[in-house]
Formats: sequence, C-alpha cells, structure tokens
Amino acid sequence: MKRRPRLPSCERILYGADYNPDQWLDDPAVLREDVDLMRRAHVTSASIGIFSWTALEPEPGVFVFDWLDAIMDRFAASGLSVFLATPSASKPFWMSERHPEIRRVGRDGRREASGGRHNHCPTSPVYRAAVHRINRELAQRYGRHPALALWHVGNELQGECHCDLCKTAFHDWLRQRHGDLDSLNRAWWSAFWNHTFTDWSQIPTHDPSIDALAVDWLRFVNDQHVSFLENEIAPLREFSPDVPCTTNLMGTNRGTDYWRWARILDVVSNDHYPLHGDREDSWRKSLSADFTHSLMRGLAGGAPWMLMECAPSSVNWGQVNKLKRPGVHLQEVLQAVANGADAIHYFQWRKSRGGFEKFHGAVVDHEGGSNSRVFRECAEVGRFLRSLGPLAGITPERAPVALVYDWEARWALESSAGPKKGSNGDRHTEACVEHFRALRLAGLDVDIVSVDADFSAYSIVVTPALFALAGETAQRLARYASAGGVWVATYLTGYVDEHNRCWLGGFPGPGLREVFGLWNEEFDCLHDDERVRVIGEIFGSAGETVATEIVERIHAEGARVVATAASEFYAGSPLVLRNAWGSGSAAYIGARLEENGCVAFYESLADELGLHRDRLPRGVVRKTRLGADGCAEFLFNYTRHPVAVDVGEDTYFRVADGRSCRGKITLRPYDSLVKGVVPAPSVSFPQTPVSSSHELAPSPLPR
Ligand code: GAL
Repeated sequence: MKRRPRLPSCERILYGADYNPDQWLDDPAVLREDVDLMRRAHVTSASIGIFSWTALEPEPGVFVFDWLDAIMDRFAASGLSVFLATPSASKPFWMSERHPEIRRVGRDGRREASGGRHNHCPTSPVYRAAVHRINRELAQRYGRHPALALWHVGNELQGECHCDLCKTAFHDWLRQRHGDLDSLNRAWWSAFWNHTFTDWSQIPTHDPSIDALAVDWLRFVNDQHVSFLENEIAPLREFSPDVPCTTNLMGTNRGTDYWRWARILDVVSNDHYPLHGDREDSWRKSLSADFTHSLMRGLAGGAPWMLMECAPSSVNWGQVNKLKRPGVHLQEVLQAVANGADAIHYFQWRKSRGGFEKFHGAVVDHEGGSNSRVFRECAEVGRFLRSLGPLAGITPERAPVALVYDWEARWALESSAGPKKGSNGDRHTEACVEHFRALRLAGLDVDIVSVDADFSAYSIVVTPALFALAGETAQRLARYASAGGVWVATYLTGYVDEHNRCWLGGFPGPGLREVFGLWNEEFDCLHDDERVRVIGEIFGSAGETVATEIVERIHAEGARVVATAASEFYAGSPLVLRNAWGSGSAAYIGARLEENGCVAFYESLADELGLHRDRLPRGVVRKTRLGADGCAEFLFNYTRHPVAVDVGEDTYFRVADGRSCRGKITLRPYDSLVKGVVPAPSVSFPQTPVSSSHELAPSPLPR
C-alpha cells in the first residue's frame, strides 16, 4: 500500500490561523503587515482561500490567480507554509443562481436560497464537476509551490439534502445494501403501521416513524459526504501526490461517521470550541475537551492530528461570549498538544471588518496591530510552542483503557422512540463522555477507538450505551474478554441489530446474556428530578450512590452482583454485575450512575487489576506526551481555584511565568505546568493573581 503523505511539521508544532487575504485586496498595506505580524506571533502556517471561490473564479471558467500567486510567493519568501483550501464550502452566487440544483432542498421539499454556506447538494453532478475543476486548477498551479504544505479540503462538510437527485441516489444505495424490496421490508420491519414498500420510488428520505430508514438515511448521507470528499481530493493527489490532504472535522458532529472519513484522509484535523465559560464546573468541560482530543487521536490511528480551528479569545455565536480568563487559552492549546496535536490553528488571523463574524475572536483585532492583549498572548503561545518542537511527530503512548465511540449506535438510539432522550437527544455521546470523565477522574488514561479496533492490547474496554450491536462485533468483544480482557458495558447495550430491530431472546443481545451472566428485562425512565438509590461496597464508606434518567431491571444469571437498587419497586435488583468469562470477565452497569459512583467503580476495577492510577485532586490532570528525545509531562489545573498538589522531587515549570517548582505546590487557577521541557526565559502570560492565603490551600473540590 502506498505510504500516505504526512504532516510537514517534523521538528515544529505548527501554529497559525485561517487567513482571508481576499477580504483585504484593496488594502495591500494590511496584507504586507500581516506577514510581519505573523512572524512576530511565531506563526508557521495559515489556511488560505476557504471561502474564496468568487475571488478565484469571478465568472464561469474565468480564473484570477494573481492575488493568490502574490500571497503564496510572499509566504514562501517569509518561510511560512500555506494550507491551501479548496473553496467548496461556499458556492459562488453566479453558480447557485445559474444551477439551482446545486442548492439544498430541506425536509419540507423547499429549495434553499443562494447565500449562507455549507449548503451544497452533496449528490449534484454539476457541483461535483465544478469542485473538481476548481481543485484541478488550484492543484495544477500550486501543487508544487514551495509554500504549499497541506490541502485543506472544503470546510466543516456536513448536513443533508432531500432533493430528487439525493432521493434517487438513496434508492440506488438502498438497492446495493438490501438487494431487493422484500429484504428491505424485512430489515426495516415495514409491516408495522403498514409501511411495506412495493416500489423503490415510494421510499422517502425522511420519515421519523420508520426508525430503520432513519439510520440507513444517515449512513447514506455519510457515504455521500465521503464520496464528495474523494471527488475533491482526486485532482489534488494527481498533481501533488506528496502533499497531505485533510478536511476539518467537528468532533462528535451528529451526521458524520468520522471513522469512515479518517480512512480517506492523510491527516486528521478538528475544529474545537469548548465555550469554557469560567463556571464552577468548567473543569468538566475541559475533561470533555480531552474526550474530543482523544477521539481525534483515535481517528488519526496513532499519528499526530491537527487542531485546525480554535478561538484565541471569545467566539461571537454563543449565548454568552465570555473572554477567556487568564490561563484558559494557553491551557486549551497545551491540552491539545498533550493529546497528540502537532498543529494549533485559530479561527481566525485577522478580524473581518464586516460580515457575520466581525466580532469573533482573532489574533489581530480591529485595532490592526500587535498592541492587543490577545495578540500578545498569542505571540507568547507561539513562542512557547517552539520549545515543544521535540514533541512533534510522535503521539502519546497507548492507554490501558479503550472506550468505544460509535456513530451507528448513536444514530440507532437517537432514531428509536423509547428510552428517555438525553438533554440534546444524544444518549450515546452523553454516556461515552461521562464514562470517559469517570475513568480520567479515577486516574486512568483512555484511548477512544472504533468498534472495529483491535482490543487485544487493552486491559479494559468500555462500551458505553452500545445500543446497536451487530452479532460479529458482539463476538469480537466476547472473545476479547475470554482471552483475559475486561469488557465493561453500560445501560442501553445490545438492544438492536444493525437494522435497528430489537434482538430477541432477552437483552443484552446477541448472545451476550451468557457473556454478562444476566438478563436485562426492562428499563425504567426517571423524571429529571428523580433519583434511585444504589448500594454496594465499591461505593466506599458511604456505600451508596444514585442513578438518574435510566435504570434497568436486571436479573443475575450467574454474574456476581456488585451493587443493587435500594429504592423504587425494584429495590434489591442488581444494577452493577461482574461475570467471569474465559480467562477474563464482563462487567455491566445497568443505570446512569452519578459521577462519584462511576468513578468508584473504575477505581476499584483498576485496583483489582493492578493498573497504575494517577492520584490527583479532582480537576487536576496529568498527561504525558512522548517526544523524539524523551517525553514531556503536562500537569493542568482545570479548575478556577488554586489547588494544592505534591509533585514530589520532579521539577516542573509553570508555563505562564517559566518558574520552576517541585514538592508541595499550589497550582493557580487554570494553571499549566510542564516537565521535560524548559520554557524560554521571560515568558509572561497574564495570570489570575493568587493571594498568599491561597498558598497550599486544600483543593476546594472535595471528592
Ligand atoms: C467554524 C467555521 C469557521 C468559523 C468558526 C467560528 O465552525 O469553520 O469558518 O465560522 O466556526 O467559530
């Protein structure tokens, strides 16, 4: 197999932003100054041309490249790299007016107006041809340009279209998947409510009453995006086979199964806006950000990934667009690096003068120069990232625990009317993030993997709310346990097959009753303010925790009962169970346990298995990243409070001021410490002042 081109970083963590010179073509002084400012901010690279189609092709077939030639040449002369974008994320007005069929049609059958962005029909042959053509022009012209380091394909590809072209393509896709209508009707259980199809043309693109259709539709849309991307990438690879291609992903975005996308990308990149907020529980958001970064690490399959967009300051689209408090921005950047990112890019380099995002944070403000707080901070971040150069090219080590994130299980669960929905409808992601956080709070490192991963090297594999479970996957997981692993499953596991049809013979299916030694007879859904008591020795001296939202009524069929319900009519029924299976075991958590309960479960499991646990105050996280010459260890205080920790005899550096520390120290709010890398002298980031009474204060977040 041909080796994929990799990120050009080698000895640098790349640092830069989305850059839109086409908005400033009337002001050449601004463009000249940009490059000077980039050097002062220690920028290495910029994504250029994301929304520039009309500037590149103002009329059909008329291409204007002089402005981009000048920018590319200027970047090359200044030693800066270009991530050259293909402009497909926003189609020119001349094109969408001339070819209305490239505009999306909504579920209501209405075609959208021109304008907006991220709204082309992914099926339209006209749009695919136009994209192929402009990409070919770009690749022919710039494919060997010395400034070109990466192809930034489109932007945040997403969404769905319900036009006739998509509908016909969906029918073709269904024929491929199911063969004939009888098979489709059986797979979709179509006799229910008389939904038996007698002709392919009757099948709609949207009908929430057919839950199997909903899942197949999402699979189809995902495949359309992937083939759209392949069409974009083909000319780029033809003319510049050594330049890697990426497209910026959006974390756990609903309609995109990124495990599938990752197979066709050379480098994985992600956009991440955690909306930190500086609230009492913001540290949980930071742990959730670790979840997303770990997902990227998993998608990249061990290679470094890129943080393609984050905000150097506030965004402009949240409900409350708060400035990042001192320490937060630096910490967010370092968190990504600690999790394997080899590039940190912002949206955006320079604030636009007008338009929808004129108030979105940027490195360069409307003031125009380097005299802003954010610019100074970005320049310090850039300077510090230079000292992390030795980390580039290598990702963190494999963790002892794998957690499975699965878009198809999520789609099946979301499309099924029944188990109580999470606050955003998405119980699968909620369960995955909560169990990830609990594992991290228990002091365990976690990799996020797909259902097809090789589990054999992991001590524990956790599959939260793996609602849809194909027989073959169930067998692979059972074999992993039987070969000595510990498989932990949670509530809402193994209810349906790949067609969203319930498994018969008792949950969890298929064949997993025996593996887990239990029968999950039914599930109870609680009101938001209801709690069910759960008791068990694993919950420490209190001996209990509580369950919320979903509680299953389980019968042990050979499994050892670890915890039981202690309230409600099902008091006494098992909720946490453990079953020996071959040389390993399978554990089942049959309720949405509150955080403390989940943490206690993982602590006791890790101790039983003799796994190393990092024992740190809640909200303080350590992450080690391997480098070519040794490794760096990051210690983050995710909380808004000073926290006392004992770092022993090791010497850490506080990144904000470059001071070294060891032994018992007090981490400042949102502090970032590093071991193994010495920050350049005289680093100076803004910090939250801490009064002396805070020195060695105990953690304000008791366990
Ligand atoms: C991203 C998008 C960027 C910009 C940014 C603002 O989703 O890719 O173009 O809009 O959001 O936060």
